[in-house]
Amino acid sequence: MTKVSIIGAGNVGATLAMRIAEADLADVVMIDIAEGACRGKAMDLTDSAPIMGHNRRITGSKDYKDIAGSGIAVITAGFPRMPGMSREELFQKNSSVVREAAANVKSLCPQAIIIVVTNPLDAMTYLASRESCFDRRRVMGMAGVLDTARFTAVLAEISGADYKDIKTFVIGSHGDSMVPLVSCTTIKGSPVSKIFSQDKIDLALARTKNRGAEIMNLLKAGSAYYAPSASAYYMVRAIIKDTKEVMSVSCILQGEYGLKDVCIGVPAKLGKGGAEEIIELPLNGREK
Ligand code: APR
Repeated sequence: MTKVSIIGAGNVGATLAMRIAEADLADVVMIDIAEGACRGKAMDLTDSAPIMGHNRRITGSKDYKDIAGSGIAVITAGFPRMPGMSREELFQKNSSVVREAAANVKSLCPQAIIIVVTNPLDAMTYLASRESCFDRRRVMGMAGVLDTARFTAVLAEISGADYKDIKTFVIGSHGDSMVPLVSCTTIKGSPVSKIFSQDKIDLALARTKNRGAEIMNLLKAGSAYYAPSASAYYMVRAIIKDTKEVMSVSCILQGEYGLKDVCIGVPAKLGKGGAEEIIELPLNGREK
């Protein structure tokens, strides 16, 4: 698999293109209605290649036909959340964009794996699944990797531990109802509940849930994109390298966790077949 398409060459999409090419993972095609900016970014990234030491081709266009033959299609197209706007308010605006993208993936690269990044994430992933009619293992959304990274960053800040010594999962819906799995969270092998009081843990959870809004308010124009693009990169890498790493991704559930025909963040094993296996962790009552 050598070609990844990124639909939407905005902040998240173009940064993701850079990460994929600079990690020498795949050639990248970016598609955007803003064709000039898309082609300009592709050229700029191409000129970085001799310095960064890779030979990956990065192209930009507004013509969907260029995605033909892609192994992975990442959908970031749409409108970002602005200050004061909920992810749900984005629903109407972004659903037609995601439908169009998924329909093009279906006809031009029917074997591809779709990763949705556009918000509201779980709803957009569900739409992409419905539109493409792909096997559910080949349609997933990026949110849990990001939420898990944010919770990890907050825990590292309050504990002083290295990121690698913190093990946690954030599942559930992307937004205020995300579920950090405190019962599965350890710092240097010790349960977080043995290290911090419930008040302190609740504060860390609140900061994690508010992280996206906090960044958006600081940026003023647009929303976070470094960590979102890093999260999507991590998923693309797991699929291309067939790593079988377990990470939190938005999947269509068919009975897992007692839910049916619902798209929501759960731990899943990622490999060349997509979200190859959904892992059912034991949840405590509150988490459930
Ligand atoms: N087809 C192709 N591209 C489109 C379309 C469309 N129909 N509609 C919009 N776009 C493009 C825009 O031109 C823009 O370049 O999608 C891109 C979105 O980029 P940004 O506005 O920079 O948004 P970004 O920060 O990248 O976020 C993208 O990811 O995290 C989520 O909430 C975020 O839904 C948003 C998405």
